[in-house]
Amino acid sequence: MPIRVTRRETFNAGHTLRNPEFSDERNLEVFGKCSNPGGHGHNYVLEVTLEQEVDPRTGYVFDLRLLSELIEKHVLADLDHRNLNTDVEWLRGRIPTTEILADAIWDRLEPHLPPGSLHSVRVRETEKNWVERCRG
Ligand code: NI
Repeated sequence: MPIRVTRRETFNAGHTLRNPEFSDERNLEVFGKCSNPGGHGHNYVLEVTLEQEVDPRTGYVFDLRLLSELIEKHVLADLDHRNLNTDVEWLRGRIPTTEILADAIWDRLEPHLPPGSLHSVRVRETEKNWVERCRG
């Protein structure tokens, strides 16, 4: 029977949400306060969930210490205390919404995990808003 396990991590990062093809007025309409060109920060929460059969040799689905190390190396080392608009190679040219972050983080992690095991990448930008990329 498949079991899900989740590792939660946190990071701080800054961003501005603007589409350069939009007018200032349209950017404000679409992105609200996040469109302010001065930028602002968020305390993000990242939750990475794997789903697999339990390994009978260890009783684990996946070693969560190892998962934490992979998240640190391939994601947080690039994001924490950075400007998401300018500092992160793998977000270049994308508007750093929470949706885009979840999508890009999935692509960063998946090659380093057992095939088919990544179930979801959830990013919480505020207490009230979170988004999730799921398999399929
Ligand atoms: Ni924002």
